[in-house]
Amino acid sequence: MVDGTAGEARHLWHGRFAAGPAEALLAFTASLDVDRRLAADDLTGSRAHVRMLGRAGLLADAEVQAVLGALDVVESEMAAGTFTFVPTDEDIHTAIERRVTEIAGDAGAKLHTGRSRNDQVATALRLFTRREGRVVVDAVVGLQRVLVERAADAGLDAYLPGYTHLQRAQPVLLAHHLLAHFWALTRDVGRLEDALARADVSVLGAGALAGSSLPLDPDGTAADLGFGSRFANSLDAVSDRDFVAEITFALTLVMVHLSRLGEEIVLFTSEEFGFWRLADEYSTGSSMLPQKKNPDIAELARGKAGRVIGNLTGLLATLKGLPLAYNRDLQEDKEPFFDSLDTTVLALLALTGLMETVTFDLDRMRAAADVPAASATDLAEWLVARGTPFREAHAVVGSIVRQAAERGLPLDELVMTDPRLGPDALALLEPGQAVKRRSTPGGAGPEAIGPQLAAAQAWLAART
Ligand code: ARG
Repeated sequence: MVDGTAGEARHLWHGRFAAGPAEALLAFTASLDVDRRLAADDLTGSRAHVRMLGRAGLLADAEVQAVLGALDVVESEMAAGTFTFVPTDEDIHTAIERRVTEIAGDAGAKLHTGRSRNDQVATALRLFTRREGRVVVDAVVGLQRVLVERAADAGLDAYLPGYTHLQRAQPVLLAHHLLAHFWALTRDVGRLEDALARADVSVLGAGALAGSSLPLDPDGTAADLGFGSRFANSLDAVSDRDFVAEITFALTLVMVHLSRLGEEIVLFTSEEFGFWRLADEYSTGSSMLPQKKNPDIAELARGKAGRVIGNLTGLLATLKGLPLAYNRDLQEDKEPFFDSLDTTVLALLALTGLMETVTFDLDRMRAAADVPAASATDLAEWLVARGTPFREAHAVVGSIVRQAAERGLPLDELVMTDPRLGPDALALLEPGQAVKRRSTPGGAGPEAIGPQLAAAQAWLAART
């Protein structure tokens, strides 16, 4: 039996030390509460490593089998909740190795041959990223699917004011508005997948920082683990957390998008706008005000975006001063990363349900969109089509709108009596006209929405 393993609470690195670690050190440096989430990935990495050691002749077949058997026991103990941690388990990696050694004895003590926690941790984190990355992408696509379905159902005569500076600008189809959020999310999916592709590199075999004198086969473990490639440089392999930073950024931008959608939900469901109504299941009440129906999901999407931005900046600050190669600071990568991942997935799922069940008050949206001033651009463009330079047309219509506002006169009367406009231009002020006229490709009107919707549906279909 290897000394300091079975039963005795000793650290895996105890050899160099005459005295055990102080309580305060353990309390400050342990990361088990956070990284126990990497248990399955650590087991996967360890299995590949021990198989490679067997192929390299560093472990006998029987030893490989003993270690693989012990890893299976650890897995089932964890699944059953019977795995017991001991106070010296600094992190999930030491806990698993300790238990494997308890079970497999001397063979277990060979598991760490040619491996450092530095390449072990980075390997587990990359495996985790590959797995969880898919979950986020699927959650983004789930929200996109709902946006496209709601856009398709909204049809050609559901429209609302489009805003610039939060001032009513021109009417837009509801479908167009919903799809605007869809397209932002397509970029998020692209960004996440790009980052996941760059994370798809095996770093097992880099050792502590410099590789090994033992005949390790990093290509073999890379292939065994199904990674796309193997590290080129051992120093880079153990110190690189670009993949964590990149994915955390991609998650942050997802949250920024959700926050912006959330802000619109807050506005549109307010009494002042009254455009959208939340389903009971996706709104909350007030503990004091019985009449309230609150958009808490939307507000928390907005609020939690702040926290995810904080995670990203914290992570980048952790990385910025680190000399090569591994530094214990890197242990601080997991908390922000995991938190951003969890927050983003939960926000996506909640907003997906909200958007699936929100009801649209078509009359309220149309009434807000059909104010005559919403046709101001159309009046100007009507003049342009008849030869007036746009700047002049803009000034003509601008002064009519100003008179309407200042003198309280109905716009249609002013249009009717203006010699440059007159009765022919009046039709432009009819309800629903302005949105119909936004017909250019990618525009907000019914003519343009068909191809846009088809493109969005094709994007989704290509992913399934
Ligand atoms: N829990 C640590 C981490 O996540 C493990 C690595 C410790 N490595 C070391 N050389 N002390 O980074």
